[in-house]
Amino acid sequence: MSYYQRHIFFCLNQREGEAACADHDAQAAFDRCKQRVKAAGLAGPGGVRVNKAGCLDRCAGGPVAVVYPEGVWYSFVDASDIDEIVEQHLGQGQVVERLVLPPEVGR
Ligand code: FES
Repeated sequence: MSYYQRHIFFCLNQREGEAACADHDAQAAFDRCKQRVKAAGLAGPGGVRVNKAGCLDRCAGGPVAVVYPEGVWYSFVDASDIDEIVEQHLGQGQVVERLVLPPEVGR
């Protein structure tokens, strides 16, 4: 059994003169996710961990986040998208299909 049931990583990368997830308010999405996970009682060992990450090399789909152990990649727009990921995927293990990053999207 793993220490966390689920782990979500948000790319917060910023680049000089090049598009990056930080240009799309990735920090606000990260903050929102942390707050919602905590409020839902999901945070901690046996539950969910929300982490910052550097570039995940899928910048063209930014802002991006990835959930393990399922390895599901998301691209999101606003706070309601984050809330949906928290409630459905992090809380119940159901993938939010409408926010899944298409497999061909790379850097
Ligand atoms: S800058 Fe976010 S994936 Fe590269």
